[in-house]
Amino acid sequence: MSRYCSRPTATPRTGAAESMEAYLHEFTNMLLRWLHVIAAIAWIGESIYFVMLDNSLRTPKDESARRRGVAGEMWAVHGGGFYHNQKYATSPEGLPDDLHWSYWKAYTTWLSGFALFVLLYMANPAFYLVNPDSAWAWAAGLSGWQVNLLALAFLLLGWVVYNELCKRLSPNMERDGLLSLAVAVMIVIVAYLSTQLFSGRAAFLLTGAVMATAMSANVFFWIIPGQRRMVKAMRAGETPDPLDGKRGKQRSVHNTYFTLPVVLLMISNHYAFLYTHEHAWLLMALFIIAGALIRQFFVVMHAGKIQSAYPVAGAALILVSLWLAMPQGGGSDTARAAGYGPSLEEVHAIVTERCVTCHSQSPSQPGFASPPAGVAYDTQAQLQQLMARTKQVVASGYMPLGNMTQMTEAERATIAAWSQ
Ligand code: HEC
Repeated sequence: MSRYCSRPTATPRTGAAESMEAYLHEFTNMLLRWLHVIAAIAWIGESIYFVMLDNSLRTPKDESARRRGVAGEMWAVHGGGFYHNQKYATSPEGLPDDLHWSYWKAYTTWLSGFALFVLLYMANPAFYLVNPDSAWAWAAGLSGWQVNLLALAFLLLGWVVYNELCKRLSPNMERDGLLSLAVAVMIVIVAYLSTQLFSGRAAFLLTGAVMATAMSANVFFWIIPGQRRMVKAMRAGETPDPLDGKRGKQRSVHNTYFTLPVVLLMISNHYAFLYTHEHAWLLMALFIIAGALIRQFFVVMHAGKIQSAYPVAGAALILVSLWLAMPQGGGSDTARAAGYGPSLEEVHAIVTERCVTCHSQSPSQPGFASPPAGVAYDTQAQLQQLMARTKQVVASGYMPLGNMTQMTEAERATIAAWSQ
């Protein structure tokens, strides 16, 4: 039974109402994405700034500052003025009431990201979440609500496992090296599982979301509560528990190494060559480790050391991924050399039948207001322009989405052989 035929037919509605609904959906998507990117820039920017500040601190030259408990300071020039940051090792005398706290940026990023995930993926799970090519038959056969529940469980379990690793392996920050290694292994496993359980695009996004959820939950469950306890103790004239500070630092450090990989995973859905690759999890793992290594270079640099081994190792991993994801040529070149191969007309005929319901200036597929990903095949000229991308998504099986329009293997072979 084909998935195309088994899809429930859309309830009859007027075309106008339907395209209005699709348009409002698109508009909400745009607003949420705008918010998400801005909140993420503000959060990550501030977090990178504070890691830089912490690593740039130098012992104060001024004797009286040292006596006041200032452990380190940084001078900076920015925006036409001079800034003088001081970090107190212990409770400063007379902690002011108007402390600057940082948490809403983190929460806004997570909430807007989750809302986007619901709107885009969970609202249309048969298209976007199910992996019909999964090696695990049960995963390939999941229904919409089942795969939605699985995605939520995946996010939740990601946090639970990460949090338990931190609590069990290095509860008093005594084995942070081992913990980092365990977290790295865990993320690679998450990448692998995600590509089995979910469609390629969702797999990248969900691996990024597991990391990003850990980042936000670190802020919500550990960093901010710890800081609140510290401030409370100081205000009561007591010595704060040093573990609160150290634990907050441990989680902040994880967040730092997560940032670069998470940003790549979040933008990966623009790059079909990444998520349609048969070893997509390996590509993900390479980029995650490369991102963490490159971040390490900057962390160490702000502490005054240049260790180029980190970015060199990161770049080497990126080169490995370049080689791994390289398209396998052959068929079409042979066809061209021999002077045969399908014509543009033949390919356009296939694409018109299998793709244009969605990929048209005015798609007939319910729920689409505009051509998805900006890809339209109404004319042969459009198809010609999109040759490389078209061949790639067809060869990998990514398009037609979930093979809704029942493209045959013979048609795929024809498109693979097309070269002009
Ligand atoms: C059921 C609707 C549907 C059908 C049928 C469909 N697509 Fe798509 N296509 C989408 C959606 C939705 C996206 C955007 C999601 C994405 O970017 O991954 C997309 C994205 C694309 C992209 C852009 C991917 C990228 O990021 O480079 C290409 C190219 C593409 N489709 C080609 C095709 C071809 C070729 C066919 C027919 C063989 C086809 N599609 C059939 C819905 C469809």
